This record gives sequence, structure tokens and C-alpha cells, in this order.
Amino acid sequence: MPALAAARAANAAFSPAYFPIAVFVGGTSGIGRACAEAFARYTKGNAHIVIVGRNKSAADDIIASFPTPTNPKAKHEFVSCDVFLMRNIQATTASLRERLPKINFLVLSPGLFNLRGRDETVEGIDKRLGLHYYARWKFTYDLLPLLRKAKDAGEDAKVMSVLGAGYGGAVDLNNLGLKKSYSPAKAGLTSPTYTDLMFEHHVRENPDLAFVHANPGPVATPLVQLKHWALRPINGLMSLLATSPEDCAEYMLYGLFQTEKGFSRRNAKGDDIGNSNHYGSDEEREIVWEHTKEEIDRALAAKVEST
Ligand SMILES: *[C@@H]1O[C@H](CO)[C@@H](O)[C@H](O)[C@H]1NC(C)=O
Repeated sequence: MPALAAARAANAAFSPAYFPIAVFVGGTSGIGRACAEAFARYTKGNAHIVIVGRNKSAADDIIASFPTPTNPKAKHEFVSCDVFLMRNIQATTASLRERLPKINFLVLSPGLFNLRGRDETVEGIDKRLGLHYYARWKFTYDLLPLLRKAKDAGEDAKVMSVLGAGYGGAVDLNNLGLKKSYSPAKAGLTSPTYTDLMFEHHVRENPDLAFVHANPGPVATPLVQLKHWALRPINGLMSLLATSPEDCAEYMLYGLFQTEKGFSRRNAKGDDIGNSNHYGSDEEREIVWEHTKEEIDRALAAKVEST
């Protein structure tokens, strides 16, 4: 288990021979933000960094804090996208595919923390499962050609979902997408398992790419500041147990940089946890894959009055 100093030292050694392009979805707050900031620091700003999210003013602040690059190719930009909707993701990834030559790092961390039950977008996708799984699935699927280009040029090509490696549950084939029976707790167990299965599907087709499913552990982010008065005492407790987003980002980047290729599940300290608490068979993996494709196609086809 790397101590924080060791993770930092390993990350500081990141010095690619190529000019890196990194995309951070959910990079305007919490761990995603801290990962983008650490990435900018370790590359001394000499990278093309794309922050995808909703909050432009937060993104402007983050980008303003990045080191001033010396490489004229460097670019730090915000791409506005409400990732609750699959059609927005479709438009964003189409535009990125058109204008980016490649992607070396795709970091996915959009999140939602509340205790509500099923809560669907106008496309009929539950918001919690949407941010934690379907949106990330779609970004990965749509941007794979750009990752492929990076790898084919002999460069890093890595995707990381910051979610809950090791904290999933069994696949319920009679309740795919929790459409029959839903609770926040069930959703919490479903997204990590589906994430493992999606990366396992990709790695079979692209064994030379790296796919990382990381568990950040308890982190003091804006997402987990519980607003209900009755839950407020938990905030204090969580802040005692929690890692700061900055420290967490070091461990997350450590896991990302250390995974050369293949699928790696990483804990809150960035260690590979192998197959511990792994759920889902080969057959279930392909059923979940088909379910996801159908669900996203259905969402894209849904009639929506205005977006
Ligand atoms: C957007 O980010 C700014 C700056 O970090 C913050 O003050 C504001 O509350 C955020 N807005 C929303 C809607 O989250």
C-alpha cells in the first residue's frame, strides 16, 4: 500500500515522451476536480486538458489555477455538458471525436449523492445510475476510437471510473437497471458491478488499453455534505474519516499511472485489489452489455420536449 508520499513521488515521475490529452468528465468538483488539478500540476500545464461538466464558473477557476504552460500546443478548456442526458453526451463525444486527434486519459467521476428513490430524467434513465454508470459507459464507448488512436501511436490510452471497486453486489438478471425494484442502496451495489463488467467487455476487445475502476473511499467532497438537518452529525463524522479530495486524487492518479494495460480494480490507496468482491459471470457480463446498449438507445430515441 503506497503511503501518500510514495504515491506522490510515483506520480511526480510521470513524464510522457508524447504531448498528453486528458479528458475529465465531472472535473468541476470533488475528486474529478482534484484529479484534473493534480494532472495539470504533474504535466506543468503542458497538456491539452478538457474539463467536461455543467459549472462553467467552477471550471474557469480551476483552469485559472493550472500552471502556465511552456508548450505552445497546451490548451486548457471547459466543455459544457449536462451529462444527465444521453443525447448531450452523444453531442459532446461527437464534437470531441471531430476535433481531438486522440485521448490519452479519460477520467470519469460525475456523481450524485442523495437518498432519493428512483428519479428519472426526461429520457427515462434514473439519475443516480445514469451518472454513475450509463453516462460513463457512453463516454467510454463513444471515445474509444480516440483512445485507440493514442495507443496505436505507441502512447498511453487509459480510462478510469472513480466509483466503487470492490463494493458491488450480485447481478440480478430479473431486475436489470433496477427497473422492477429500486432503492438507493441497490443502486449503490449495482453501478460498481456493472462498471467492472463494462471494462471487462472492453478489455477483451482492446487488451492493450488500460481500464481502471477505482474506489475513492470516504472523501470530503461537496457531494457528501448531507443537507438534511437530521443527517448533519454524519457530516462531522465523515470529515474525520474522510480523505481530502487532493490526497484522494494522488491515490487515484497513482492507480491510473501504474496500470500499464488491462483491467485493474483499485482501492482508496491506489492498490490493485485483483478480483476481490468481484461479481458477474461471463454470461452476465454480455447480458448487462446488451441491456446497457438497449437502454441508451431507448433514451436517445425518447421524445423530449426541450433539452
Ligand atoms: C459553481 O461553482 C462555483 C464556484 O466553485 C460555486 O460557487 C457554485 O455554487 C457552483 N454552482 C452550482 C450550480 O453548483
